[in-house]
Amino acid sequence: DRNVKIAPSILSADFADFGREIQAIEAQGADWIHVDVMDGHFVPNLTFGPPAVKAFRKHVKTVMDVHLMIAPVDPYIDAYAEAGTDILTAHVEAGPHTHRTLQAIRAAGMKAGVALNPGTPAQAVEHLLDLADLVCVMTVNPGFGGQKFIDMTDKVRTLRAMIGDRPVHIEIDGGVTPETAPLVVNAGADVLVAGSAVFKGGSVDNPTPYGDNIRAI
Ligand code: DX5
Ligand code: ZN
Repeated sequence: DRNVKIAPSILSADFADFGREIQAIEAQGADWIHVDVMDGHFVPNLTFGPPAVKAFRKHVKTVMDVHLMIAPVDPYIDAYAEAGTDILTAHVEAGPHTHRTLQAIRAAGMKAGVALNPGTPAQAVEHLLDLADLVCVMTVNPGFGGQKFIDMTDKVRTLRAMIGDRPVHIEIDGGVTPETAPLVVNAGADVLVAGSAVFKGGSVDNPTPYGDNIRAI
């Protein structure tokens, strides 16, 4: 579907070769590059922080979509702006003041995203939609790639109705495959994050499977 953007998650890339992985995945048709930041506290896994993200930026020609799975968020917003982030997404569960966080993200010159864990209802972002450019619906419990899709189709449909005519993306993150993608796209999602389903079977030296996998979603 040409109206749906595919945002490969570099969580499934070779951690010793991010620059070439980003170049390869963009050459193979990625629309955005999804960067999963984990702090070992908000989620039970640890990835990388602002200096690494700043280094990724040099290789990203499309859109750098940074998903923060960290708490707190606010002390790091300026560092992610400085790193060249286009869209910065914070979890609604990461603190009591998501409204303030989204304002601060925009004030720092980035687009603002808000993410919801599977257990969090759509209503948690109802009063944030004028401050958000993107709502990320998690279809796994965040922390790891390669998990099984949790069906959040009803939540996506509710959010799309709630968003109405606002220019807000609905992004799906976790367990996206050629089988699960149509469910959420039909419900109103327009950005699909995919890690394992995009990187499987390929490598920086053999990147054609990346493109085949992207087109299969
Ligand atoms: C999960 C991350 C996702 C994940 C997606 O915590 O936010 O972006 O890497 O990976 P797959 O597509 O393998 O579920
Ligand atoms: Zn993510």
